[in-house]
Formats: sequence, C-alpha cells, structure tokens
Amino acid sequence: MERLQKFIAETGYTSRRKAEELITSGKVTVDGKIVTELGTKVGGKEEIIIDEEILTKEEKEYYLLNKPREVITSVSDDKGRKTVVDIINTNKRIYPIGRLDYDTTGVLLLTNDGEFANILMHPNNKIDKVYIAKIRGIIKGDAINKLKNGVIIDGRKCEKCRVKLRKTNINNNTSTVEIVIHEGRNHQVKKMFEAVGFEVLKLKRERVGIFTLDGVSSGKYRRLTPKEISIIYSIKN
Ligand code: URA
Repeated sequence: MERLQKFIAETGYTSRRKAEELITSGKVTVDGKIVTELGTKVGGKEEIIIDEEILTKEEKEYYLLNKPREVITSVSDDKGRKTVVDIINTNKRIYPIGRLDYDTTGVLLLTNDGEFANILMHPNNKIDKVYIAKIRGIIKGDAINKLKNGVIIDGRKCEKCRVKLRKTNINNNTSTVEIVIHEGRNHQVKKMFEAVGFEVLKLKRERVGIFTLDGVSSGKYRRLTPKEISIIYSIKN
C-alpha cells in the first residue's frame, strides 16, 4: 500500500505536490468516493479518477530542453502562446520540472515521472541551479556579498548562495554575474538583483544539477540517458 499522492505522481499524471493539491481540493475519487485525506493509502487496484479522467500508468519519458525566449513554461496557455511542451514531439503527458520565465532561456527538464520531478524540486536535495544574469550597471563587492548572504524577497530571506562576477562592460554599463541557487521561488533571480538595486536584462539557466546545455542548441532538446535518470534516483530526500 502507498500514499495516494505518491501513487498519482508515479503514474506520471503530475508531481507529488500537485497531486496533493488535487486531493485536498476534492478532485480525486477512489472507487467512486471523493478522497481529500492526504494520508489515504491505495494498493494499485482501485479505480482512481481525477477531473473525470481515469488514471492509468504510462511509459516514462525524460527530456532536457534548451528553452528559447518567448515560450511559456507550462503545459497550456490561455493566451495561445507557444509552450515548452509544444516544442517536444511526444504523445505522453509530460510537464516541466520547475519553471523559467517567458524571457529566460536555458536548461529546462520535462517528464511525466512525478517521482523524478519531486527529487529535483525538493528543497532538501539542494540541487544546484546555475544562472547567468546580464544586469544593467556595474556591480561591486558589497552588492555581491549581500546576494551571497541571502537578500530578502517578498518578505522572506533567501538562502545563502554562490555568486561570481564573470565580467563587466564599462562601455555599455552592464555586468554579467553567475549565481547558483537551490531554491526555486517565483522570479527569484530577478527579485534578488532588484533587492540590491540592479535590473536583470537577460537571464539564462546554464545548469541544473548534472544537466548542462552541452550539445543542445537553443530551441532543441534531447532525451535523458538511463545513467542520468539513475543518478537522480540515487539522490535521497
Ligand atoms: N529566476 C528568475 O527570476 N527567472 C527565472 O526564469 C528563473 C529564475
């Protein structure tokens, strides 16, 4: 027997956290009864229905996309904009692991494996997310130290992080900064720079854990290898 939210995530329907939301908001029925209790256990033989759809297990797929600009990190968009899922040629119900802003580029993982997504997103696992930010202005040591120690955004302090100045360009008054964070708060990098008085002009995610953009140009994607998948599964949470 296992917990309903874990079971739902394992079918690839969605992440464990989203599954919890679906359960508590009364969208999940088990053998005809609405279940809102997160502790509910299932054995796998029950008929589980979410939003009028019967849950079935599907084959797992894993992708690394080099997200271009002007694509939304979502499975659908009510304004008809192109989504990251539109780029990938599959009939599986894959979804992005975490999100990048419309104008942010770089590493984005997608899967229909909720457990895998959960490992990468769980804050305890402290997966590196490496961003390269081009900012307006010349940043100095004091602002860099503030970022390293954790600035306050939306009333809450960010964790300590690694920050490295890559270059400054006096002529066009910009700096390029590498920042490594483990959290995944909304617009986190842009807000962190805003907190120390800088505007982010361009943002690229260069790496997530072991995943880099090597060999994957903008707008292209590749499947993860079995070795990469097993490395992620070996991370405890
Ligand atoms: N931080 C941001 O501000 N935007 C992103 O897309 C990712 C991290």
